[in-house]
Amino acid sequence: MAPRFAARMGEIAPFHVMELLRRASELERSGCDVIHMEVGEPDFPTPEPVLEAAQRFLAAGRVAYTPALGLPALREAISAFYAERLGADVAPERIVITAGASGALVLALGITTDPGDEWLLPDPSYPCNRHLVRTFEGRVRLLPVGPETAFQPTAAMIAAACGPRTRGVMLASPANPTGTLLSLDEIDAIAEAAAERGAITLVDEIYQGLTYGVPMRTILSRRRDVLVVNSFSKYFGMTGWRLGWLVLPDADWVREAEKLAQHLFISPSTVAQHAALAAFLPQTQDELERRRAEFARRRAVLLRGLDTLGLTVPAEPTGAFYAYADVSALGETAERLAQRFIEEAYVAVTPGRDFGEHRADQFLRFAYTTTQARIAAAIERLAKVLRR
Ligand SMILES: Cc1ncc(COP(=O)(O)O)c(C=O)c1O
Repeated sequence: MAPRFAARMGEIAPFHVMELLRRASELERSGCDVIHMEVGEPDFPTPEPVLEAAQRFLAAGRVAYTPALGLPALREAISAFYAERLGADVAPERIVITAGASGALVLALGITTDPGDEWLLPDPSYPCNRHLVRTFEGRVRLLPVGPETAFQPTAAMIAAACGPRTRGVMLASPANPTGTLLSLDEIDAIAEAAAERGAITLVDEIYQGLTYGVPMRTILSRRRDVLVVNSFSKYFGMTGWRLGWLVLPDADWVREAEKLAQHLFISPSTVAQHAALAAFLPQTQDELERRRAEFARRRAVLLRGLDTLGLTVPAEPTGAFYAYADVSALGETAERLAQRFIEEAYVAVTPGRDFGEHRADQFLRFAYTTTQARIAAAIERLAKVLRR
């Protein structure tokens, strides 16, 4: 008998890029050198002081649960980071440690979303969000955004889109897949427009440390009534450790998150939390800044290269490690081009379709999570394919 799954599963879509990845690994097994520009994770190893902290902790041999909200020392370290680096007063009691930004998003939606509640999300945006909303039986309303607004919603769009069932607005700055930022004024105006209509604003700041020519910022330096998601995955280079955090407005919110976290997760990974304490040491921060400078150089190589290919990046990507390139001038869909790039050039990129529907077949996301030399080689290979 065929297994029966929940109705929601019919609406949970896989990542389309997985097909390409499957093909990429087949090609690699047959000896081809695939250049990976589809992956959303830094290629740098875990910073040395973080590894050492984990090893010291493991050597002591006692790896037990921590409180559901996370290690008090880590919540304090994050609070100090907000004060010292970001000029934001965020008490440790407002910080919930989670299994990555993903865990933070699950908690945020779990404590806010009733069946039928609507969340406004930009299209294109990070694909998991719409599936998480669906998992909690909420509804997603996608707001098409384009280069005119740097692929970000405006306060006017939010004001117009809010309806009686709107529960919240999800933003990301810097954003995936476009690498574009919202200014604090713009986030403030959106949050105000939402609040006036009874909706909350969730800001995903996972790419916070990765900005180029723009200082790192947080909306928490301006407002307290927003939910902020962050992570050790990207700037801190700790994807596989599965650690992030959620900042909530006050103790009432934290109490709800704590109840849910106790049941869903019991506690975040203890080893990862002890390791992450070293993420804020000056020597780690110095290393992370060197990595950011390297990302800036890679970004320059990629943007110059895309330009020589005749591909435009219509909204300047000043953050994260992505460029969202308009490929419509090439006369083929982004999906088809992504297939050709992997088959003919062994270069893997992500088609726009993974991030939404709006003009999705005109865009490809290039991640500069590989070395300058590999990026330059990818551009050369693509130039040959496009000349054919
Ligand atoms: C915008 C955004 N939010 C959240 C996540 C989830 O990250 P993690 O769970 O590794 O912290 C990602 C990962 O790519 C992302 O791009």
